[in-house]
Amino acid sequence: MIDLSNKNALVTGAAVGIGRGVSKVLAEQGANVVVSDIDADGAKSTSEEIIKAGGLSQSAQLDVTNKESVQTLISDLSNQLGHIDIVVNNAGVVGAQGWWERKIPNDDDWDTVLAINLRGVVNVSLAVEEGMKARKQGKIINIASIASRQGSPSIPHYNASKAGVVSWTQSHALQLAPFQVNVNAICPGLLWTPLFEHLIDRPDFLDNQSLEGLTGRERFEKVVEFGTPMQKEQTPEDIGKLAAFLASDDAHNITGQAINVDGGRRMN
Ligand SMILES: NC(=O)c1ccc[n+]([C@@H]2O[C@H](COP(=O)([O-])OP(=O)(O)OC[C@H]3O[C@@H](n4cnc5c(N)ncnc54)[C@H](O)[C@@H]3O)[C@@H](O)[C@H]2O)c1
Repeated sequence: MIDLSNKNALVTGAAVGIGRGVSKVLAEQGANVVVSDIDADGAKSTSEEIIKAGGLSQSAQLDVTNKESVQTLISDLSNQLGHIDIVVNNAGVVGAQGWWERKIPNDDDWDTVLAINLRGVVNVSLAVEEGMKARKQGKIINIASIASRQGSPSIPHYNASKAGVVSWTQSHALQLAPFQVNVNAICPGLLWTPLFEHLIDRPDFLDNQSLEGLTGRERFEKVVEFGTPMQKEQTPEDIGKLAAFLASDDAHNITGQAINVDGGRRMN
């Protein structure tokens, strides 16, 4: 059984979707979870749900692209809690506002995606590493994507950002290995979150004429059906369960890995 009691965890982008699910699972395993998001109200609501279910939590507003805010939050949390044991770098987007209406990503899409998905992960990771190195323990879990495994014609900026997260995970794992700090990535498959609700609506996302006239959710189910060997979608709780394992002492010998949670959709 996974036991995260007496561990403090910080999850980014945790107002909705995967971050919300991961936060809940970590709290169920006993962690005190700091739920953070650029959306302060959303983060508060996830945190309140955790507390209502009997878990330990607090919320914080955090824009992962703002280095100064990241450093201030980590320093405040370290003073308040004593130590941060687990970080889940989950905040991620597919583009700047209105990206789902653009066939070709514009400069804003490239800059926004790289700033949040890649630099955001680096910003938070570098801010927590000093404390982890000093204590010679810590677990950093980066949420990448199966989009890191294969390029795409429609969202190349997103694919590149996620491939970057996998590469950064390996480099950071090598830097922190001498300090017994583990750094791993999780590559989620297909999850029906607000992010995917936009993705499925892109005019070029699906070529298949037979999908015309279906609702977004119905088309999502078809996408899952067509390319997933296990014929099922993934859930935020699926991602949370792997995050909880990677965050536990049981995973002390696993580092620099990127693990797909995708029902077999990608096998690299
Ligand atoms: N949904 C999927 O199928 C899927 C698949 C693979 C990987 N992912 C990845 O999982 C992560 C979460 O995805 P999701 O589907 O839950 O997305 P989502 O859009 O549902 O939620 C993303 C959250 O990140 C927050 N956020 C956005 N910009 C931020 C910033 N600058 N600082 C802090 N928070 C910010 C948003 O407010 C939101 O709460 C992302 O990194 C995404 O790329 C998702």
